Amino acid sequence: MEPRVTRWGTRFGFYLAAVGSAFGLGNLWRFPYVVADNGGGAFVFIYLALVFLIGMPFLIGELMLGKQTGSAVIPAARRMGKEPGAKEAQGRGRYISMRLLSRSGYLAIATCLMILAYYSVISGWVLHFLVRFSISALWAGDFEPNSVLAILLNNGWLQLLLTFVHLLLVMIVVIRGFEAGVESWVSKLMPVFLIMVVGLALRSLSLESSAEALRFFLYPDFSQLTTASLGRAVGQVCFTLSLGFGTMVTFGSYMSERVSVPVAGFRVAIFDSLISLVAGVMIFPLVLQSLGQGVAPTLLFESVPFLFAKEAGGEWVGIIFFFCLYVAALGSSIGLLETAVANARETSKMRRSTATIVSALICLFIAVVPALSTSVLRDQKIAGTPVLEAWDGLLVNWILPIVAVLISQVVLLRIDQSHQKEEFESVPVMAMGRLYAHWRFAIRYLAPALCLLGLILQLL
Ligand code: TRP
Repeated sequence: MEPRVTRWGTRFGFYLAAVGSAFGLGNLWRFPYVVADNGGGAFVFIYLALVFLIGMPFLIGELMLGKQTGSAVIPAARRMGKEPGAKEAQGRGRYISMRLLSRSGYLAIATCLMILAYYSVISGWVLHFLVRFSISALWAGDFEPNSVLAILLNNGWLQLLLTFVHLLLVMIVVIRGFEAGVESWVSKLMPVFLIMVVGLALRSLSLESSAEALRFFLYPDFSQLTTASLGRAVGQVCFTLSLGFGTMVTFGSYMSERVSVPVAGFRVAIFDSLISLVAGVMIFPLVLQSLGQGVAPTLLFESVPFLFAKEAGGEWVGIIFFFCLYVAALGSSIGLLETAVANARETSKMRRSTATIVSALICLFIAVVPALSTSVLRDQKIAGTPVLEAWDGLLVNWILPIVAVLISQVVLLRIDQSHQKEEFESVPVMAMGRLYAHWRFAIRYLAPALCLLGLILQLL
């Protein structure tokens, strides 16, 4: 298989795509709810530390794997054990471990599809709010956030319909190769959205509850942590930076020579964390009273709409907010489906359209369970946890870190050390700071150890 030749001509193109994939429901929907569920500030503290200790090293690794091999994750990993004479050259033990690792790409793709399934359900929720705000604005009905949410949560078939509509849109874009078009939409809307989220955060700060909310959100009270907190922070870091999916490997393979991998990893991670923090400032003052009473994945939808419902003309702000959020969710969903499709195409002879339709259908089929989780399956519990949270938790807090660690080991074994070093030393600042050695230490020992510790502690 020949490495692909497509390259982003500009740095800007690469950043847009990478930031666009990192930025999504993970920042606005998942981050606040996981923080609330895990006791606030201390969790945020751990999360931020892990962005540096795990997120950046892994992100740099995945991008590097793509850039150096020029291919998506399955072929990049699979070719590892296949070089002629590999067995003799590497010794038997190393050869066998390589062959095992070379299968990790498949796990990445399975995870991609399973996550896209419930990501689509939540995107459907966003769509519902967008439609509802539009109806209120255009036909002058009152917007009642509580009843809008209740209608959605009690109606599993409505959720399934919305999920279907969302997946259909995603599929059309991917089949027709409109990603570039959507990317340019995401890029145009992103500044608008960011300004808006910052504006809403400021508005939230003017609420009476804001002092206490900020205290909850930012003051690290370590007594709030449980043994599971570390693993959950690891999961959130992987999810929000799109690590362990193989996505960043694909992006790395499109990267032009001129873009420095370490610098890119650093910027994307910082930017993504800032957005999450602002989202927290926006949401927490609104939900202070209900914190601690079993926070649900509905947190975003229970809070932000109230900001708009109170004010005259607020529906319009609501429309813009949910429209931007929907475009971000759409962009991320496209990234997830595209990752699966790119890998399917490079490993089999499947046509693009066939691969896309098959993947989307698999997602829709899997999505039935999360879509019905707040209605028909409301009383079902998996290990004492509601279905949607259990599903999200299993994939994000368990499987993602494992895949991310496996991919990081592929990076270490697959890429020549001199090439790894070169990526760092081509940037003068990095050479000075001896960052290469730190990165190698992190990706080899520190990050895998932290991931493993997080997994083990979750078992307790
Ligand atoms: N990081 C995205 C978010 O925060 C979600 C995501 C995970 C993603 N993996 C991805 C998006 C792959 C695009 C491609 O919402």
